[in-house]
Amino acid sequence: MKFHIQTWGCQMNDHDGERLAGLLAAQGYESVATSEEADLVLLNTCSIREKAVHKVYSELGRLRMEKEQRPLLIGVTGCLAQQEQAALFKRAPQIDFVLGTMALKQLPSLVEQAMEGKKRLMDTNEYPDNHLFPPEVARRRSTAKALVTITEGCNHACTYCIVPTTRGVERSRPWQDIVAEVKGLVARGWKEVELLGQNVNSFAGGCTFAELLDRVAEVDGLEWIRFTTSHPMNFTEALAKTLVTNPKVAPFLHLPVQSGSNTVLRRMRREYTIEQYLERLGYLGEGKAKLCLSTDFIVGFPGETDDDFEDTMKVLETVRYDTSFSFIYSPRPGTASLRLKDDLPMAVKGERLKRLQARQAELSFESNKRFIGRDVKARIESHGTGEDGFWLARTGEWKVVHLATGPGRELPFGELVDLRITDASPHFLAAELV
Ligand code: SAH
Ligand code: SF4
Ligand code: F3S
Repeated sequence: MKFHIQTWGCQMNDHDGERLAGLLAAQGYESVATSEEADLVLLNTCSIREKAVHKVYSELGRLRMEKEQRPLLIGVTGCLAQQEQAALFKRAPQIDFVLGTMALKQLPSLVEQAMEGKKRLMDTNEYPDNHLFPPEVARRRSTAKALVTITEGCNHACTYCIVPTTRGVERSRPWQDIVAEVKGLVARGWKEVELLGQNVNSFAGGCTFAELLDRVAEVDGLEWIRFTTSHPMNFTEALAKTLVTNPKVAPFLHLPVQSGSNTVLRRMRREYTIEQYLERLGYLGEGKAKLCLSTDFIVGFPGETDDDFEDTMKVLETVRYDTSFSFIYSPRPGTASLRLKDDLPMAVKGERLKRLQARQAELSFESNKRFIGRDVKARIESHGTGEDGFWLARTGEWKVVHLATGPGRELPFGELVDLRITDASPHFLAAELV
């Protein structure tokens, strides 16, 4: 049995894909790189925005044609599976089984039944121990950084967001399990981990998130800890202090703001005003200068006026984010924001997004230019394409570095190297080895 997993969405979904791969590998199944070679294809889906859902249905259409040519099992997992459940079979009868986000361990049993010829199998139950998934099972892809889920689910209720529906209420793993997993990862060669949760700051696995960072940092041989994502209302002074003082915590903070307008923030039910958000960023104090900051924006939220949008542009200027991710509001099934009047033309939303992204591109370029001449540490992540000896590395601040070494030079994958930044473009830094 050969299987292929295609994953969309956030790092947590990526890591779920690694867990699912581990479960199948434990059955003796073999992972293959493309769906063409596979007897079983898992679509590990995301439904955060309509576009993400389109990608899944378009891939399902392609697989239907493949399935007409040869025997093929198709399973759907991830957030769209949890959201749509049995409705998926109606829309795409070529699906053999649907597995929810909180029932990962049921995968081998569903596959076995599907192999016996059973149709329309589904398990979207909420297993209370899903977040206690055995860490040794996951088959991590060979990336420089290991993903480690620390909490699943979300107890916030942002009115636009599908995640509380698709991932359930928040559950934290015990901190001892997390530290043990990280020790195991370091023993197997990883030197960097990214702690994952919909909202890592509200971690409640026996200590606070700030304490968890300090405890993970004590693991010998671990070099960098990253984390994502943080809700501003759970961003504490203690966490800010750990972030700026603990040398193993990478100097990068992604703190989604969504909008700069208090009216919009209220309608989004983000639980903070823009003043409170900025106050929390202020917890970083002088240490802020050493960090790179990132955020998420939603533009064109129902009822967003020109003034509201100007408030968002103002936040961009005030904080001068090093990078940001911005999206046009996408109505999601069953969310509270569907009840809000949304009469802003799509063209206006598109214009706003373009303006915001253009200004961010300038700010990101400025941020990159500030690195020219600096000596930094960066982790070798991959070999660039082409023959001329070109490598990609990542700094603690999450900057991509292009490193020209000349042909024939091998650099140690996954290791930290000392670099001097020689040039900057809007999207990456250029460097030489020192
Ligand atoms: N837990 C994270 C969010 C994960 S979703 C947090 O609260 O920060 C990642 C980003 O997708 C969000 O920050 C938001 O900017 C965007 N997003 C979520 N739902 C959306 C929707 N319905 N339309 C557009 N963007 C959305
Ligand atoms: Fe969604 Fe809000 Fe929870 Fe983030 S905090 S996952 S945006 S509900
Ligand atoms: Fe997408 Fe689910 Fe992650 S909706 S962003 S895969 S939590």
